[in-house]
Amino acid sequence: MTRVLFVCLGNICRSPMAHGIMGHLAERRGLSARVEVDSAGTAANHTGAPPDPRTVATLTRHGIALVHRARQVTDEDFDTFDLILGMDASNLRDLRRRCPAARAHVVRPALEPVGGGDVADPYYGGPQGFDVNYDQLSAACEGWLDRIAAGSVVRPPVE
Ligand code: 4NP
Repeated sequence: MTRVLFVCLGNICRSPMAHGIMGHLAERRGLSARVEVDSAGTAANHTGAPPDPRTVATLTRHGIALVHRARQVTDEDFDTFDLILGMDASNLRDLRRRCPAARAHVVRPALEPVGGGDVADPYYGGPQGFDVNYDQLSAACEGWLDRIAAGSVVRPPVE
């Protein structure tokens, strides 16, 4: 079982989108039993909130349903998850600051399989930002699932 946590700032726009896409693609590829997916935010201000309506609309347009309520990243997450995937450089900075050294290898850019870079914060922009997020995250999730299927995700640091 590979446990994957997607992380953005608020856990209402980008990380729930990735969460929904990853679950959907895992199911489509017959990998559901091998992947567990969740999402969280580095900040707590939207705790308990459903995903942003623009994220829900984007997912729905692609036939993806997601039930989730926003939560903040916890200390326990760093032990529980095999991959903690930050959406942008700021999320990754916050995650790395909190992550115990022995677990540093689990914190990675969400877009790593497609060459890295940021999933831009779409919150204050127009709906097209969510479409860009969707395309980037779909490609990245396919790449993560390729690695999970190949059993090549967990690379602990060289001692
Ligand atoms: P997310 O987007 O990090 O992708 O969930 C944001 C959601 C809320 C805020 C910023 C970004 N906010 O400032 O409240």
